[in-house]
Amino acid sequence: MTVVQTDPRAGYLEQKEEIDAAIAEVLASGWYIKGKQVAAFESEFAAFVGVREAVGVANGTDALHLALRALGIGRGDQVLTVSHTAVATVAAIELAGAEPVLVDIDEASYTICAGRLAEAARAFRGGGRLKAVIAVHLYGQPAAMPAILESAREHGLFVIEDCAQSHGALLEGKATGTFGDIAAFSFYPTKNLGGIGDGGAIVTQDPELARRARWLGEYGWKERYLSEIPGLNSRLDELQAAILRVKLPRVAENNARRRALARLYGDRLPREVLVLPAARAGAEHCYHQYAVRCAERDALRAHLKAEGIGTTIHYPQPVHLQPAYRGRVAIAGDLPVSERVCGEILSLPMYPQLPLEAAGRVCEAVRSWRR
Ligand SMILES: Cc1ncc(COP(=O)(O)O)c(C=O)c1O
Repeated sequence: MTVVQTDPRAGYLEQKEEIDAAIAEVLASGWYIKGKQVAAFESEFAAFVGVREAVGVANGTDALHLALRALGIGRGDQVLTVSHTAVATVAAIELAGAEPVLVDIDEASYTICAGRLAEAARAFRGGGRLKAVIAVHLYGQPAAMPAILESAREHGLFVIEDCAQSHGALLEGKATGTFGDIAAFSFYPTKNLGGIGDGGAIVTQDPELARRARWLGEYGWKERYLSEIPGLNSRLDELQAAILRVKLPRVAENNARRRALARLYGDRLPREVLVLPAARAGAEHCYHQYAVRCAERDALRAHLKAEGIGTTIHYPQPVHLQPAYRGRVAIAGDLPVSERVCGEILSLPMYPQLPLEAAGRVCEAVRSWRR
Protein backbone atom coordinates (compact mmCIF):
# COMPACT_ATOMS: atom_id res chain seq x y z
CA MET A 1 0.00 0.00 0.00
CA THR A 2 1.37 3.40 -0.94
CA VAL A 3 0.74 6.45 1.21
CA VAL A 4 0.59 9.81 -0.57
CA GLN A 5 1.70 13.05 1.08
CA THR A 6 -1.55 14.81 0.25
CA ASP A 7 -4.61 14.00 -1.86
CA PRO A 8 -6.86 16.85 -2.97
CA ARG A 9 -9.32 14.35 -4.49
CA ALA A 10 -10.11 12.86 -1.10
CA GLY A 11 -11.94 15.99 0.07
CA TYR A 12 -13.94 16.10 -3.14
CA LEU A 13 -14.89 12.41 -3.03
CA GLU A 14 -16.02 12.70 0.59
CA GLN A 15 -18.58 15.39 -0.33
CA LYS A 16 -19.07 14.40 -3.97
CA GLU A 17 -22.86 14.50 -4.11
CA GLU A 18 -23.13 17.94 -2.52
CA ILE A 19 -20.26 19.35 -4.59
CA ASP A 20 -21.64 17.95 -7.85
CA ALA A 21 -25.04 19.45 -7.03
CA ALA A 22 -23.47 22.84 -6.25
CA ILE A 23 -21.55 22.76 -9.54
CA ALA A 24 -24.67 21.79 -11.49
CA GLU A 25 -26.60 24.68 -9.91
CA VAL A 26 -23.95 27.22 -10.99
CA LEU A 27 -23.74 25.76 -14.50
CA ALA A 28 -27.51 25.98 -14.90
CA SER A 29 -27.68 29.52 -13.50
CA GLY A 30 -25.78 31.10 -16.39
CA TRP A 31 -24.10 33.49 -13.91
CA TYR A 32 -20.43 32.56 -13.56
CA ILE A 33 -18.57 35.55 -12.14
CA LYS A 34 -19.36 37.52 -8.96
CA GLY A 35 -22.90 36.46 -8.25
CA LYS A 36 -24.86 35.13 -5.32
CA GLN A 37 -22.45 32.27 -4.58
CA VAL A 38 -19.50 34.63 -4.13
CA ALA A 39 -21.58 37.04 -2.02
CA ALA A 40 -22.82 34.20 0.21
CA PHE A 41 -19.35 32.68 0.53
CA GLU A 42 -17.85 36.05 1.48
CA SER A 43 -20.26 36.47 4.36
CA GLU A 44 -19.93 32.82 5.48
CA PHE A 45 -16.13 32.98 5.35
CA ALA A 46 -16.05 36.30 7.27
CA ALA A 47 -18.17 34.64 9.98
CA PHE A 48 -15.87 31.59 10.02
CA VAL A 49 -12.77 33.75 10.56
CA GLY A 50 -14.58 36.13 12.92
CA VAL A 51 -14.13 39.37 10.96
CA ARG A 52 -16.52 41.90 9.43
CA GLU A 53 -15.38 41.71 5.84
CA ALA A 54 -14.18 39.10 3.35
CA VAL A 55 -13.42 39.79 -0.32
CA GLY A 56 -13.06 36.86 -2.72
CA VAL A 57 -10.14 37.06 -5.14
CA ALA A 58 -8.52 34.81 -7.73
CA ASN A 59 -5.78 33.26 -5.53
CA GLY A 60 -3.73 33.72 -2.38
CA THR A 61 -0.93 35.61 -4.11
CA ASP A 62 -3.41 38.21 -5.33
CA ALA A 63 -4.95 38.34 -1.84
CA LEU A 64 -1.56 39.41 -0.43
CA HIS A 65 -0.84 41.77 -3.33
CA LEU A 66 -4.24 43.48 -3.13
CA ALA A 67 -4.08 43.65 0.69
CA LEU A 68 -0.79 45.55 0.40
CA ARG A 69 -2.21 47.88 -2.24
CA ALA A 70 -5.40 48.45 -0.25
CA LEU A 71 -3.13 49.65 2.60
CA GLY A 72 -1.52 52.09 0.17
CA ILE A 73 1.79 50.23 0.03
CA GLY A 74 3.62 50.50 -3.28
CA ARG A 75 6.69 51.79 -5.05
CA GLY A 76 9.63 52.66 -2.80
CA ASP A 77 8.05 51.13 0.31
CA GLN A 78 9.68 48.27 2.21
CA VAL A 79 7.89 45.29 3.76
CA LEU A 80 9.39 42.85 6.26
CA THR A 81 8.67 39.15 5.93
CA VAL A 82 10.44 35.78 6.00
CA SER A 83 12.54 33.88 3.48
CA HIS A 84 11.32 30.46 4.65
CA THR A 85 7.86 30.59 3.04
CA ALA A 86 6.09 29.92 -0.24
CA VAL A 87 7.68 32.24 -2.78
CA ALA A 88 4.23 33.82 -3.22
CA THR A 89 4.63 35.83 0.00
CA VAL A 90 7.69 37.62 -1.37
CA ALA A 91 6.39 37.77 -4.96
CA ALA A 92 3.25 39.58 -3.75
CA ILE A 93 5.34 42.37 -2.20
CA GLU A 94 7.13 42.92 -5.51
CA LEU A 95 3.83 42.71 -7.43
CA ALA A 96 2.62 45.64 -5.32
CA GLY A 97 5.77 47.53 -6.40
CA ALA A 98 7.34 47.41 -2.93
CA GLU A 99 10.63 45.89 -1.72
CA PRO A 100 10.75 42.81 0.50
CA VAL A 101 13.22 42.77 3.41
CA LEU A 102 13.65 39.21 4.66
CA VAL A 103 14.04 38.33 8.33
CA ASP A 104 15.17 35.05 9.88
CA ILE A 105 12.76 32.55 11.41
CA ASP A 106 12.73 31.00 14.82
CA GLU A 107 13.89 27.39 14.85
CA ALA A 108 11.12 26.03 17.07
CA SER A 109 8.11 27.47 15.22
CA TYR A 110 9.40 28.06 11.64
CA THR A 111 7.70 31.48 11.80
CA ILE A 112 9.31 34.94 11.95
CA CYS A 113 11.73 35.36 14.86
CA ALA A 114 10.23 38.09 17.04
CA GLY A 115 13.65 39.25 18.30
CA ARG A 116 15.11 39.49 14.80
CA LEU A 117 11.97 41.28 13.63
CA ALA A 118 12.32 43.90 16.39
CA GLU A 119 15.98 44.44 15.38
CA ALA A 120 15.08 44.68 11.68
CA ALA A 121 12.25 47.14 12.36
CA ARG A 122 14.65 49.37 14.34
CA ALA A 123 17.38 49.11 11.68
CA PHE A 124 15.16 49.81 8.67
CA ARG A 125 12.68 52.26 10.20
CA GLY A 126 15.29 55.05 10.07
CA GLY A 127 15.22 55.02 6.26
CA GLY A 128 11.57 56.13 6.32
CA ARG A 129 10.49 53.53 3.77
CA LEU A 130 9.49 50.63 6.01
CA LYS A 131 5.69 50.35 6.02
CA ALA A 132 4.55 46.86 6.98
CA VAL A 133 5.27 43.34 8.11
CA ILE A 134 3.74 40.18 6.66
CA ALA A 135 3.49 37.47 9.33
CA VAL A 136 3.25 34.01 7.76
CA HIS A 137 1.49 31.30 9.79
CA LEU A 138 3.58 28.62 8.15
CA TYR A 139 2.48 24.95 8.10
CA GLY A 140 -0.58 25.97 10.19
CA GLN A 141 1.48 27.26 13.14
CA PRO A 142 0.36 30.73 14.29
CA ALA A 143 3.21 33.27 14.24
CA ALA A 144 4.10 35.11 17.49
CA MET A 145 1.39 37.72 16.98
CA PRO A 146 1.59 39.60 20.33
CA ALA A 147 5.32 40.32 19.85
CA ILE A 148 4.83 41.12 16.14
CA LEU A 149 2.02 43.56 16.94
CA GLU A 150 4.17 45.20 19.61
CA SER A 151 7.05 45.82 17.17
CA ALA A 152 4.59 47.05 14.56
CA ARG A 153 2.97 49.50 17.02
CA GLU A 154 6.35 50.79 18.16
CA HIS A 155 7.47 51.53 14.61
CA GLY A 156 4.13 52.47 13.01
CA LEU A 157 3.94 49.46 10.68
CA PHE A 158 0.88 47.78 9.21
CA VAL A 159 0.49 44.07 9.95
CA ILE A 160 -0.66 41.71 7.20
CA GLU A 161 -1.24 38.06 8.03
CA ASP A 162 -0.47 35.40 5.43
CA CYS A 163 -3.08 32.78 6.36
CA ALA A 164 -2.68 30.64 3.23
CA GLN A 165 -1.76 27.68 5.47
CA SER A 166 -3.67 28.53 8.64
CA HIS A 167 -7.45 28.25 8.10
CA GLY A 168 -8.89 27.65 11.57
CA ALA A 169 -5.60 27.90 13.50
CA LEU A 170 -5.94 29.78 16.80
CA LEU A 171 -3.66 31.68 19.11
CA GLU A 172 -4.89 32.39 22.62
CA GLY A 173 -8.39 31.53 21.43
CA LYS A 174 -8.31 34.03 18.52
CA ALA A 175 -8.31 32.93 14.89
CA THR A 176 -5.36 33.68 12.64
CA GLY A 177 -6.52 36.43 10.31
CA THR A 178 -8.00 38.53 13.14
CA PHE A 179 -4.77 39.94 14.64
CA GLY A 180 -3.44 42.31 11.99
CA ASP A 181 -4.89 45.10 9.84
CA ILE A 182 -5.72 42.72 7.02
CA ALA A 183 -5.14 39.05 6.13
CA ALA A 184 -4.85 36.91 3.02
CA PHE A 185 -6.10 33.35 2.49
CA SER A 186 -5.50 30.90 -0.36
CA PHE A 187 -7.99 28.22 -1.41
CA TYR A 188 -5.49 26.25 -3.51
CA PRO A 189 -6.84 22.66 -3.66
CA THR A 190 -4.59 21.18 -0.94
CA LYS A 191 -5.17 23.96 1.61
CA ASN A 192 -7.18 23.33 4.80
CA LEU A 193 -10.03 24.92 2.86
CA GLY A 194 -9.36 24.19 -0.80
CA GLY A 195 -11.34 24.61 -4.00
CA ILE A 196 -11.12 22.69 -7.26
CA GLY A 197 -8.88 25.27 -8.86
CA ASP A 198 -7.49 28.58 -7.65
CA GLY A 199 -9.14 30.94 -5.20
CA GLY A 200 -8.32 33.34 -2.39
CA ALA A 201 -9.78 35.90 0.01
CA ILE A 202 -8.83 39.05 1.84
CA VAL A 203 -10.31 39.53 5.31
CA THR A 204 -10.37 42.60 7.54
CA GLN A 205 -12.35 44.33 10.26
CA ASP A 206 -12.11 47.60 8.33
CA PRO A 207 -14.90 48.19 5.77
CA GLU A 208 -12.88 50.94 4.06
CA LEU A 209 -9.94 48.57 3.45
CA ALA A 210 -12.34 45.90 2.18
CA ARG A 211 -13.93 48.42 -0.18
CA ARG A 212 -10.53 49.41 -1.59
CA ALA A 213 -9.53 45.74 -1.99
CA ARG A 214 -12.79 45.08 -3.82
CA TRP A 215 -12.27 47.98 -6.23
CA LEU A 216 -8.64 47.02 -6.86
CA GLY A 217 -9.64 43.46 -7.73
CA GLU A 218 -12.07 44.59 -10.39
CA TYR A 219 -10.23 47.18 -12.48
CA GLY A 220 -10.57 49.84 -9.76
CA TRP A 221 -14.29 50.06 -10.55
CA LYS A 222 -16.34 52.01 -8.05
CA GLU A 223 -19.28 51.47 -10.34
CA ARG A 224 -19.32 49.11 -13.31
CA TYR A 225 -17.11 50.43 -16.14
CA LEU A 226 -15.94 53.46 -14.10
CA SER A 227 -12.46 53.05 -12.67
CA GLU A 228 -11.87 55.13 -9.57
CA ILE A 229 -8.31 53.84 -9.08
CA PRO A 230 -6.01 51.76 -11.30
CA GLY A 231 -6.79 48.10 -10.58
CA LEU A 232 -6.66 44.65 -12.11
CA ASN A 233 -8.83 41.59 -12.56
CA SER A 234 -8.70 39.22 -9.62
CA ARG A 235 -12.10 37.66 -8.89
CA LEU A 236 -13.22 34.50 -7.18
CA ASP A 237 -15.58 32.75 -9.58
CA GLU A 238 -19.04 31.36 -8.83
CA LEU A 239 -17.99 27.72 -9.31
CA GLN A 240 -15.17 27.94 -6.76
CA ALA A 241 -17.37 29.90 -4.34
CA ALA A 242 -20.13 27.28 -4.57
CA ILE A 243 -17.64 24.46 -3.94
CA LEU A 244 -16.01 26.33 -1.05
CA ARG A 245 -19.44 26.89 0.52
CA VAL A 246 -19.96 23.10 0.59
CA LYS A 247 -16.52 22.52 2.11
CA LEU A 248 -16.41 25.40 4.63
CA PRO A 249 -18.66 23.75 7.28
CA ARG A 250 -16.23 20.78 7.36
CA VAL A 251 -13.05 22.76 8.05
CA ALA A 252 -13.23 22.48 11.86
CA GLU A 253 -13.86 18.74 11.72
CA ASN A 254 -11.11 18.26 9.14
CA ASN A 255 -8.67 20.26 11.26
CA ALA A 256 -9.54 17.96 14.18
CA ARG A 257 -8.66 14.97 11.98
CA ARG A 258 -5.34 16.63 11.11
CA ARG A 259 -4.67 17.16 14.83
CA ALA A 260 -5.45 13.50 15.58
CA LEU A 261 -2.91 12.47 12.93
CA ALA A 262 -0.38 14.89 14.44
CA ARG A 263 -0.95 13.34 17.89
CA LEU A 264 -0.32 9.88 16.48
CA TYR A 265 2.88 11.08 14.79
CA GLY A 266 3.93 12.80 18.02
CA ASP A 267 3.43 9.56 19.98
CA ARG A 268 5.10 7.16 17.55
CA LEU A 269 7.83 8.94 15.57
CA PRO A 270 11.36 8.45 16.91
CA ARG A 271 12.62 11.68 18.45
CA GLU A 272 16.22 10.50 18.31
CA VAL A 273 16.00 10.67 14.49
CA LEU A 274 13.56 13.55 13.90
CA VAL A 275 12.79 16.99 15.25
CA LEU A 276 8.99 17.02 15.49
CA PRO A 277 6.85 20.15 15.12
CA ALA A 278 6.12 21.89 18.42
CA ALA A 279 2.86 23.82 18.65
CA ARG A 280 3.45 27.27 20.16
CA ALA A 281 2.18 27.66 23.75
CA GLY A 282 -1.42 28.87 23.62
CA ALA A 283 -1.77 27.91 19.95
CA GLU A 284 -4.02 25.49 18.14
CA HIS A 285 -1.86 24.46 15.20
CA CYS A 286 -3.99 23.37 12.21
CA TYR A 287 -1.29 21.12 10.70
CA HIS A 288 -1.58 22.21 7.10
CA GLN A 289 1.72 20.36 6.95
CA TYR A 290 3.37 18.01 9.41
CA ALA A 291 6.94 19.19 8.85
CA VAL A 292 9.73 17.31 10.62
CA ARG A 293 13.47 17.87 10.48
CA CYS A 294 16.16 15.26 9.96
CA ALA A 295 19.93 15.80 9.66
CA GLU A 296 20.03 13.16 6.88
CA ARG A 297 16.78 14.24 5.28
CA ASP A 298 17.52 13.10 1.72
CA ALA A 299 18.50 9.58 2.79
CA LEU A 300 15.38 9.29 4.97
CA ARG A 301 13.25 10.57 2.10
CA ALA A 302 14.71 7.94 -0.27
CA HIS A 303 14.03 5.22 2.31
CA LEU A 304 10.41 6.35 2.72
CA LYS A 305 9.96 6.45 -1.04
CA ALA A 306 11.23 2.86 -1.29
CA GLU A 307 8.64 1.96 1.38
CA GLY A 308 5.88 3.54 -0.76
CA ILE A 309 5.52 6.68 1.35
CA GLY A 310 5.31 10.06 -0.33
CA THR A 311 6.87 13.15 1.24
CA THR A 312 7.37 16.74 0.06
CA ILE A 313 9.98 19.36 0.85
CA HIS A 314 8.45 22.69 1.88
CA TYR A 315 10.70 24.44 0.90
CA PRO A 316 13.96 23.27 -0.71
CA GLN A 317 15.54 26.75 -0.81
CA PRO A 318 14.88 29.94 1.13
CA VAL A 319 13.52 32.64 -1.17
CA HIS A 320 16.65 34.83 -0.88
CA LEU A 321 18.80 32.03 -2.37
CA GLN A 322 16.48 31.19 -5.28
CA PRO A 323 17.71 32.29 -8.73
CA ALA A 324 15.00 34.94 -9.16
CA TYR A 325 15.93 36.69 -5.90
CA ARG A 326 19.56 35.86 -5.08
CA GLY A 327 21.75 38.95 -4.72
CA ARG A 328 18.78 41.20 -5.40
CA VAL A 329 16.41 40.92 -2.46
CA ALA A 330 17.28 42.71 0.81
CA ILE A 331 17.91 40.64 3.93
CA ALA A 332 17.92 41.89 7.50
CA GLY A 333 21.34 40.82 8.78
CA ASP A 334 21.86 37.14 8.02
CA LEU A 335 19.37 34.26 7.86
CA PRO A 336 21.20 31.22 9.28
CA VAL A 337 18.12 29.38 10.55
CA SER A 338 16.23 29.80 7.26
CA GLU A 339 19.27 28.52 5.35
CA ARG A 340 19.81 25.47 7.60
CA VAL A 341 16.18 24.42 7.93
CA CYS A 342 15.70 24.11 4.15
CA GLY A 343 18.26 21.31 4.05
CA GLU A 344 16.56 19.33 6.82
CA ILE A 345 12.83 19.89 6.50
CA LEU A 346 10.43 17.19 5.29
CA SER A 347 6.62 17.15 5.14
CA LEU A 348 5.16 13.76 6.04
CA PRO A 349 1.75 12.59 4.74
CA MET A 350 -0.97 14.85 6.14
CA TYR A 351 -4.53 15.40 4.96
CA PRO A 352 -7.82 14.90 6.80
CA GLN A 353 -8.84 11.70 5.01
CA LEU A 354 -5.49 9.97 5.65
CA PRO A 355 -6.37 6.89 7.72
CA LEU A 356 -4.70 6.64 11.13
CA GLU A 357 -3.40 3.19 10.12
CA ALA A 358 -1.62 4.76 7.13
CA ALA A 359 0.01 7.32 9.44
CA GLY A 360 0.98 4.38 11.66
CA ARG A 361 2.72 2.82 8.66
CA VAL A 362 4.65 6.04 8.10
CA CYS A 363 5.90 5.83 11.71
CA GLU A 364 6.95 2.19 11.28
CA ALA A 365 8.78 3.04 8.06
CA VAL A 366 10.69 5.86 9.79
CA ARG A 367 11.53 3.53 12.70
CA SER A 368 12.82 0.85 10.31
CA TRP A 369 15.31 3.29 8.76
CA ARG A 370 18.93 2.25 9.46
CA ARG A 371 17.89 -0.30 12.04
C1 LIG B 1 2.33 30.74 2.75
C2 LIG B 1 1.67 30.96 1.42
N1 LIG B 1 1.44 32.22 0.99
C3 LIG B 1 0.84 32.47 -0.18
C4 LIG B 1 0.43 31.45 -1.01
C5 LIG B 1 -0.17 31.79 -2.34
O1 LIG B 1 -1.40 31.21 -2.57
P1 LIG B 1 -1.88 30.84 -4.08
O2 LIG B 1 -1.13 29.62 -4.47
O3 LIG B 1 -3.33 30.63 -3.91
O4 LIG B 1 -1.56 32.03 -4.92
C6 LIG B 1 0.62 30.12 -0.61
C7 LIG B 1 0.15 28.97 -1.43
O5 LIG B 1 0.77 28.46 -2.28
C8 LIG B 1 1.27 29.87 0.63
O6 LIG B 1 1.48 28.61 1.04
